Amino acid sequence: MTILAVFNQKGGVGKTTTALNLAAAMAHNGMEPLLIDLDPQAHLTASCDVTVNSDESIYAFYKDNRPLTELVRPLPNGVNLIPSHVELAKVDTLYRKTGGVIMRLRHALYDEMLASSGVPIIIDCCPFLGILSINAIAAADGMLIPIAAEYLAMKGATQLQNTLEAMSRLADKRIARRFVVTRFVPNRRLSSHIIGDMQERYGEELCKTRIHENSAITESAGYNQDIFSFAPKSKGAKDYGFLLDELVESGFIQLPPKP
Ligand SMILES: Nc1ncnc2c1ncn2[C@@H]1O[C@H](COP(=O)(O)OP(=O)(O)OP(=O)(O)O)[C@@H](O)[C@H]1O
Ligand SMILES: [Mg+2]
Repeated sequence: MTILAVFNQKGGVGKTTTALNLAAAMAHNGMEPLLIDLDPQAHLTASCDVTVNSDESIYAFYKDNRPLTELVRPLPNGVNLIPSHVELAKVDTLYRKTGGVIMRLRHALYDEMLASSGVPIIIDCCPFLGILSINAIAAADGMLIPIAAEYLAMKGATQLQNTLEAMSRLADKRIARRFVVTRFVPNRRLSSHIIGDMQERYGEELCKTRIHENSAITESAGYNQDIFSFAPKSKGAKDYGFLLDELVESGFIQLPPKP
């Protein structure tokens, strides 16, 4: 079993798209992954075509100690979702004074046996640092870091590195990481420059799979669907299928043995 946090403090790099479509790739392969939307923007929840009140969202777990298992929603595509709500933004103020919240999500995932259920768990993080992101990273066995293939990604690389180190220190562990290039356009001169730079910087931690810029992915978001439901033969679906294969084959995602 694996708990994955999809994280990058830079906005709009493809975190939600990757969490959604990696989970959909898993469901496509017969798994029943659990997606946790830990972003007050609740884009992942919307992408799953789900709307909830705050007391049916992950906010109820933080505010009222609602068990996570009571918040899980099965979706038609075979994925299970714990949805988010804009009120989740209050968690930082709620817990600033109390402390002791860093391991909250991890403990609940283990206490409620979700972590031992054999299903992969994917947490979509928000694009800022705070209690929510630290909770996700403390809960995770691995961090998947989407990086958009653009000039600003190179400029932000050192800042990202510093953030990742600070997060690992706060969560009190060295966490396994994989970087994945998103929105890749192969023929751009800048793209090969960026890939070269990332290979040098991240070495074996850089996934070989590239997620290409793909209009079906943009469109699927507009229809609140994952790419496998919206366009199963698209390049976007193939890329996310390859990414899952690579992460499983390299042992980054560990699946339970088949019965
Ligand atoms: N490979 C792709 N091809 C085309 N469009 C993409 C691709 N990946 C992501 N997008 C689009 O880019 C936008 C930003 O993606 P996404 O919401 O996944 O980023 P994010 O990192 O989760 O953003 P935030 O930091 O705000 O949470 C979305 O409109 C999404 O549909
Ligand atoms: Mg997002």
